[in-house]
Amino acid sequence: MAQRPYIVGNWKMHGTRAMLSEARAIDRAAERLLKVEVAIAPPFTLIHASRKEASLIGIGAQDCHAAEGGAHTGDISAAMLKDSGAGFVIVGHSERRADHGETDAAVKAKAEAALAAGLSVIVCVGETEAQRDSGEAESVVASQLQGSLPRGEGVADRITVAYEPVWAIGTGRTPTIEDIATMHRSIRARLGEAYGETGAQVRILYGGSVKPENASEILATEEVGGALVGGASLTAESFVGIIVAAT
Ligand code: G3P
Repeated sequence: MAQRPYIVGNWKMHGTRAMLSEARAIDRAAERLLKVEVAIAPPFTLIHASRKEASLIGIGAQDCHAAEGGAHTGDISAAMLKDSGAGFVIVGHSERRADHGETDAAVKAKAEAALAAGLSVIVCVGETEAQRDSGEAESVVASQLQGSLPRGEGVADRITVAYEPVWAIGTGRTPTIEDIATMHRSIRARLGEAYGETGAQVRILYGGSVKPENASEILATEEVGGALVGGASLTAESFVGIIVAAT
């Protein structure tokens, strides 16, 4: 059976308690749009309150530490996320790879810690503009997947991959539909190598300047199982426009 499209809002470093009304409104809209699986990843500080405000949509985090606990000032463990109401965590976002020097090995360790704590995981990959221009996009993404994906029995059930070309994030630019399809096919092949037959059930999300206006076309593309949305997930109005486009 085909899986429901998965539309995830990554709020990044946006949102105080005033934004909980958006979470509530997204939740209410999702009630009418059950053909789509909807989730948001607010900042750590809003996870618990968002879980209380919204009963239907998934609530997740944007990062976790790889250790179970210990002397890591300012960090949050996967178990703490689970305890505060998160059901999933995003790891390896390009902003974390760039701002915090996260390597593929670090991303993989975080994903393993999250799975061990009972969370699902969205693993992000994507090439820079220079890498695309030099024809390396597919090999860069293949190598990120090779280094970042956790392996093992049952893992494919709890993993989602998000393909986010770095140059498309927050820029209003998107790859052509053909380029999105080519990359998603290539990711599907890599998932087969990593997980065998079960790799076919891993959803691959597209992320990078998804808006209500371009969502239908992107979401109708071969192998695109949903979207990871930044800026357009910050208001219920625009995020619900994307959810509607996925129905
Ligand atoms: O994780 C989502 C993201 O990086 C895309 O951001 O603002 O281009 O939708 P945006």
